[in-house]
Amino acid sequence: MEVIIKENYEEMSRCAAEIIAAHIKKNPRLVLGLATGATPVGTYKELIRMHREGLDFSQVVTFNLDEYLGVGMDLGKPYHLDQSYARFMHEELFAHINLKPENIHLPDGLAPDPEEFCRRYEEAIKNAGGIDLQVLGIGRDGHWAFNEPGSSLASRTRIQALTKETLDDNYESFYRQAGIAREEMPHFAITMGIGTILEARHILMLASGKKKAQVVAKALEGPVTSQITASAIQLYSGKATVILDKEAASELKNIEYYRHVEKLKAEMEAGR
Ligand code: GLP
Repeated sequence: MEVIIKENYEEMSRCAAEIIAAHIKKNPRLVLGLATGATPVGTYKELIRMHREGLDFSQVVTFNLDEYLGVGMDLGKPYHLDQSYARFMHEELFAHINLKPENIHLPDGLAPDPEEFCRRYEEAIKNAGGIDLQVLGIGRDGHWAFNEPGSSLASRTRIQALTKETLDDNYESFYRQAGIAREEMPHFAITMGIGTILEARHILMLASGKKKAQVVAKALEGPVTSQITASAIQLYSGKATVILDKEAASELKNIEYYRHVEKLKAEMEAGR
């Protein structure tokens, strides 16, 4: 696991976008897993800027991690009345780059048979050849996607009930300003499982800000536990890159070691 510590959110976002762009340049047919939340917004802004300078997404295939159950994108509605992750992705990334609509995959919160939909989503990932690069944030309760505490570390795409902490956080970030009552928020979501995520070939996890510091330390350095599903990163056999800003890294015990490794790597690259 490589841990990269950046000065601030902007630098974290630039570094993440550079890694994604390098993947796309190397493999224009990249299968890219995408995340929602405030954390990757800066990365998406950078990718949009890079696209304006020529980065081509025309053959890239995307799979999003999750969606609220009972919610779907409705572009006919004003933004504040559509809190779907599909809408979020459309606004923050898809509308601004040249992905082909048929290459975009999002869990469908309005699927008539959600369980069948989850099975088909797993199939679609397999048929695409698996996820090459998966972008991840981390929830305050340690979740990846919507894999709440107690989720099996071998779980697959499924329906998940959300915890009070997640509902509180998402209410504050998105629903309150939309004027939607707390009780009207969806309490369930479709989420890729931890087992699904662990099959990606490269994981790119991002976190920023003081309020993530404790949970980041637990996930990276604490015991592997289904109570902090992002701790599954410690069982992961692919390439893992964690990019943090200084604040999110502030509770890490091994921070000096991560910085030391980064320095060695930079020296080796400069020497080449
Ligand atoms: C939601 C999403 C997660 C995301 C988390 C953190 O729960 N399902 O994928 O990582 O929020 O969001 P933020 O980046 O806004 O802190």
